[in-house]
Amino acid sequence: MLSHPELGPPAGSGAAVVCDIVAAQGPFFGERLRVVVGTASEQDSDSSVVIYVDTATGETATAEDLWQEGAAAALHGDLVEAIRREAGALSRTPYGEGAEEQEDGIRAALATTVPAAEGAMAFTVPAELFVADPSGLGIGATPEAFTVEVPAELVARLATPFGRRLAAASGRAFDGPDAVPAGREWVDCTLLPCLALTYDDGPSAHTPRLLDELEGARAAATFYVLGSSASRLPGTVSRAAAEGHEIGAHTWSHPHMTQLTDAGIRSQLKRTRSLLRTLSGQPVATFRPPYGDVDRRVLKVAGLPAVLWTVDTRDWAGPSDRRLLREAIDEPEPGGIVLFHDTHEQTVALAPEIISELRDRGFTLVTVTQLFDGDLPRRGAWRGAP
Ligand code: NI
Repeated sequence: MLSHPELGPPAGSGAAVVCDIVAAQGPFFGERLRVVVGTASEQDSDSSVVIYVDTATGETATAEDLWQEGAAAALHGDLVEAIRREAGALSRTPYGEGAEEQEDGIRAALATTVPAAEGAMAFTVPAELFVADPSGLGIGATPEAFTVEVPAELVARLATPFGRRLAAASGRAFDGPDAVPAGREWVDCTLLPCLALTYDDGPSAHTPRLLDELEGARAAATFYVLGSSASRLPGTVSRAAAEGHEIGAHTWSHPHMTQLTDAGIRSQLKRTRSLLRTLSGQPVATFRPPYGDVDRRVLKVAGLPAVLWTVDTRDWAGPSDRRLLREAIDEPEPGGIVLFHDTHEQTVALAPEIISELRDRGFTLVTVTQLFDGDLPRRGAWRGAP
């Protein structure tokens, strides 16, 4: 076995990230990220992770996520055979059952998976680290790192749906990031600090400018639209929906819903939902009661979840720019819902700064449906993500 000179830690301190592109096929893009964090005297950590993104949907997966739960166990036999061949082992003794440490080794190796030609996938078994059934093989560890290719038939059986789609894109040119609007991307709000910006009482003459700003910033929002306003500016509602924003119902004429009869509640929502469905091409999944005025009876009659808010920017009260910016930028917390009104020019004018500052705070801006991870509740009143 060759022995190589050992590399000592470099003298610098700080963090370094090295990116290698490992896949670009169809809508998929894959990168290996190596992150080294060190101080002047020692290297604190050096880890690598391979991450894939489906640019058509925004869905991401690590290399480990390409494989189903039992893949390591299922690949054990094939892998031992591969190691046997690689090591030139003459023994034909059948290998034993997979010891746990062997499966851990396979799992670690699977975390290096990259797509190969014709729907196959390949991963790297590291040198020295992998102990593969020494009694059967006559070898204790892999002498050098080597690559194992998993053929397409096995990939079809052992990969997750994401992994199978990635493998199936083998040989295709990279489509480039698809123009999927931010509001339709898949976002994991259980991991990311998400925030839903919501705009009420529109559409108005200011709404198209807000849509321009949102599009420029690739930010998603939810519009709680009044039926009466939508009937005057139908094209604006259609445009907002086409650009990936969510459209919710804010009633037809902005009444206090708790003061309406059951028939009145039904009529306010039915008329509005029907128009919005036509204009947006999508069902209306939530409503926002004007003034946040809602009770058990309204919820029951509405038969839709009511979406309230965690932060009221009070933009309707004519605050100073400074005050509105402070409310909108400093107050929100992860999982929150911020209430604005796209009927106010000031709100629209400050939107770019608000969006940029919220992102600087680390927020991912999402629609209400994305905030609920695509799984909206059937009923009840909600102030933020569950
Ligand atoms: Ni309102």
